Amino acid sequence: MAKPAKRYVCQACGGVSHRWQGQCADCAEWNTLVEEVQAAPTAFAAKHDLRRGGRMLELVGLDADIVLPERTKTGIGELDRALGGGLVPGSATLIGGDPGIGKSTLLIQAAAKLAEEGLSVAYISGEEAADQVRLRARRLGLGNAPVKLGAATSVRDILATLDGGRPPALLVIDSIQTMHSDMIEGAPGTVSQVRASSQELIRYAKETGAALILVGHVTKDGAIAGPRVLEHMVDTVLSFEGERSHQYRILRPIKNRFGGTDEIGVFSMAETGLGEVLNPSSLFLTQRDEGVAGAVVFPALEGTRPLLIEIQALTVRLASGATPRRAVVGWDSGRLAMILAVLEARCGLSFSSAEVYLNVAGGYRVTDPAADVAVAAALVSALAERPVPADAVAFGEVSLSGEIRPVAHGGIRLKEAAKLGFERALMPSAGAGEVTGIKASHFPSLGRLVDHLLGRG
Ligand code: TYD
Ligand code: MG
Repeated sequence: MAKPAKRYVCQACGGVSHRWQGQCADCAEWNTLVEEVQAAPTAFAAKHDLRRGGRMLELVGLDADIVLPERTKTGIGELDRALGGGLVPGSATLIGGDPGIGKSTLLIQAAAKLAEEGLSVAYISGEEAADQVRLRARRLGLGNAPVKLGAATSVRDILATLDGGRPPALLVIDSIQTMHSDMIEGAPGTVSQVRASSQELIRYAKETGAALILVGHVTKDGAIAGPRVLEHMVDTVLSFEGERSHQYRILRPIKNRFGGTDEIGVFSMAETGLGEVLNPSSLFLTQRDEGVAGAVVFPALEGTRPLLIEIQALTVRLASGATPRRAVVGWDSGRLAMILAVLEARCGLSFSSAEVYLNVAGGYRVTDPAADVAVAAALVSALAERPVPADAVAFGEVSLSGEIRPVAHGGIRLKEAAKLGFERALMPSAGAGEVTGIKASHFPSLGRLVDHLLGRG
């Protein structure tokens, strides 16, 4: 028999190479290739023509009747919201997030809620001993919930245990990186182990109708550790975000085969676990004093919910020659570089001898493109040391030509700003009607906004 071929699989992207290399040829990551033994194709598969012997499929039109999946409400409204209305039986959901962000806490709370409703729930912890999980549950006041708790890492053991009884309505695996399938070689956490373990667990979920939730770790640069393929295998991917030092957590859908990905869940971490934040609009506003340069409030929109967020910029003049730093927390650094370039090229401002720091208050991460104008205003305000009026909000998208483009849902943003006592808006020329209580200043270009902020006519 032929010797099994050696191959090297990148632990970051799943790319395959036939010899070991320091750098992955697919994703350019260093030191991510790990040897995996590949089984030779079975004699059966090699001998047979794939076009023969298959079962005939019934192909249907796009207009055929739709059966919407039923959903199981977890009883945690913000989680249901991020899931697109609740858990879909037989589906697989991946929840990724930094260590310590609260994934286990959220899931033990959801598991306990469902179990108390009378549903059968299994929680398998591969990370913590059963006692640790029990201790946490007790601390959260959930010690009496009839959750079936197991500490295990062998997928075979888990499936054998579950196979005996009635399948659970919810199966939580915390975390997929600790799981091990004895069908293939390799240590837990490697691409092939994660893939094989997930495959078996997902198959179990599909066959039995159990809703499967996998916890996934996140690497330094924010991707869910292990293979991208894991994201392709599951139906829903949620990312649990926030700064550990801050109280607030955002559950953000990244992919959802059964619903939209625009509604976030907002939680606050307290002594008693994760609480739902039902009206988050003023959550990320800091104590606002008159006259602080570099602070601008941005009315963001998350799905259908407006959120007012403070964006803070600081510039520090440098002695000539040194390379100035650009540091960003809560926003895209590439986008910051772009706004700085547009301010330099189109508005005649110079940041080249200044260090630039940008921070989104409260540990929030902004993804809404309408933040450009608020960021630009914060940068100009910091550079010129001229505060933006504390009763103003700013939004709009900036193009490379320096234009300010209209953004979606201007009206909702203005209404929320008015509700929270803001009186002015710096915004694009078009895109929102009048809103009572808000005086809108429209700017067609960033140049005009800069002139306004600097009091140049
Ligand atoms: P955890 O759910 O273990 O995070 P993950 O599973 O994502 O790694 O959360 C751990 C953190 O949450 C820990 O630093 C303590 C904090 N925490 C609270 O503040 N209040 C609580 O009630 C609980 C259970 C945890
Ligand atoms: Mg955990």
